[in-house]
Amino acid sequence: MKSLLIIFSLILCSSIITVRSQLTTDFYDNTCPNLLKIVRQEIKKAIENEMRMAASLLRLHFHDCFVNGCDASLLLDGSDGEKFAGPNLNSARGFDVVDTIKSAVESSCSGVVSCADILAITARDAVLLSGGPSWKVLLGRRDGLVANQTGANTGLPSPFETLDKTIEKFAAVGLNLTDVVSLSGGHTIGLAKCATFSQRLFNFSGTGAPDSTLETNMLSDLQNLCPTNGDGNKTTALDRNSTDLFDNHYFKNLLNGKGLLLSDQNLFSSDLAVSTTKTLVGSYSNDSSLFFNTFASSMINMGNISPLTGSAGQIRKNCRVVN
Ligand code: HEM
Ligand SMILES: *[C@@H]1O[C@H](CO)[C@@H](O)[C@H](O)[C@H]1NC(C)=O
Ligand SMILES: *[C@@H]1O[C@H](CO)[C@@H](O)[C@H](O)[C@H]1NC(C)=O
Ligand SMILES: *[C@@H]1O[C@H](CO)[C@@H](O)[C@H](O)[C@H]1NC(C)=O
Ligand SMILES: *[C@@H]1O[C@H](CO)[C@@H](O)[C@H](O)[C@H]1NC(C)=O
Ligand SMILES: *[C@@H]1O[C@H](CO)[C@@H](O)[C@H](O)[C@H]1NC(C)=O
Ligand SMILES: *[C@@H]1O[C@H](CO)[C@@H](O)[C@H](O)[C@H]1NC(C)=O
Repeated sequence: MKSLLIIFSLILCSSIITVRSQLTTDFYDNTCPNLLKIVRQEIKKAIENEMRMAASLLRLHFHDCFVNGCDASLLLDGSDGEKFAGPNLNSARGFDVVDTIKSAVESSCSGVVSCADILAITARDAVLLSGGPSWKVLLGRRDGLVANQTGANTGLPSPFETLDKTIEKFAAVGLNLTDVVSLSGGHTIGLAKCATFSQRLFNFSGTGAPDSTLETNMLSDLQNLCPTNGDGNKTTALDRNSTDLFDNHYFKNLLNGKGLLLSDQNLFSSDLAVSTTKTLVGSYSNDSSLFFNTFASSMINMGNISPLTGSAGQIRKNCRVVN
């Protein structure tokens, strides 16, 4: 009898946990009814001030979710933080804007909304306000207690690596080929530094020649922008056709050898692409609404990576420090 009771309560507990681990779109409807309006207004202001901020904010959600799940671990300050990991150092930006959004949210509903959820809403609004698709953001994530610099160094994809490695890193967080290609379309907005693609421009992989997949006009343009021993911090558009507009031109670029990063062009031009990602690139380049719909569902997939829910983690008061 007693063991039956224990089994029964175990089942009850685990079903509660299952229910709680589901994020929902209405999570803050009672506790912070104006949340979505507040965030939208703050993002509008930030983008009016600097259009690139949309891209930077979208990237923050990605870099958060790939490391210990979407738990705002990226936002934690400190020398052992993720901000100092290779992919983020002197690169990830928008932390001050996140602070501003968090303050605005706190002054309306204090201690209720997680920084991880703010990043998820922010990413959606950044895409929408750049001309991209919208989707209903799932909410109810809580904030992590630790940053993971090693995790950021090993888990985030690198612009220099091969397609199979990129695919592997997405698979490690439960994302498939469709997600790899559609989410790479995030590179339809924003900028990248010379240091992230200049290895393609003069002596690619020790061949003595540039990357032969790179379209010749764009190549000479980039060679001028990023000469050997030049300033690696100089930036150029990831989608040179429409820098600030969220559209499917990123994929058209790949068909024409105009992907900026090696990891971009690999989706169409690497040997492995033929059997994996090339067809998807073609489809999205042809069909903007297919890209938009797939991007939206892949963003939801990415936002679902290992969320902390229930009583795990905490709701940070200040996104930069644990309470
Ligand atoms: C597929 C693997 C990916 C690699 C290797 C990669 C790599 C990079 C690199 C090297 C930069 C330039 C950073 C700099 O120069 O400071 C960048 C920028 C950016 N990435 Fe990715 N990325 C990937 C996937 C994604 C995903 C999934 C998203 C979002 C859905 C995304 C969104 C962005 C955005 C919006 C920017 C521009 C940021 C800005 O202008 O501040 N990337 N990425
Ligand atoms: C950091 O990330 C790595 C790679 O995902 C993982 O194995 C490790 O457990 C994480 N460490 C912490 C403290 O979360
Ligand atoms: C990836 O997963 C989605 C569901 O999230 C599915 O619709 C899609 O077909 C999958 N793609 C591949 C290449 O398996
Ligand atoms: C290109 O790089 C390789 C290996 O790093 C080197 O041996 C070669 O001399 C370089 N070629 C040119 C033309 O600079
Ligand atoms: C870019 O600027 C940062 C900060 O000023 C500097 O530490 C870094 O070395 C520069 N990176 C490159 C690739 O030039
Ligand atoms: C972008 O592409 C469109 C359609 O191919 C073209 O008409 C337009 O001139 C391009 N814009 C830029 C800035 O390259
Ligand atoms: C794009 O669509 C056209 C017309 O449906 C088709 O002929 C072409 O093969 C498609 N291109 C790609 C790259 O899928």
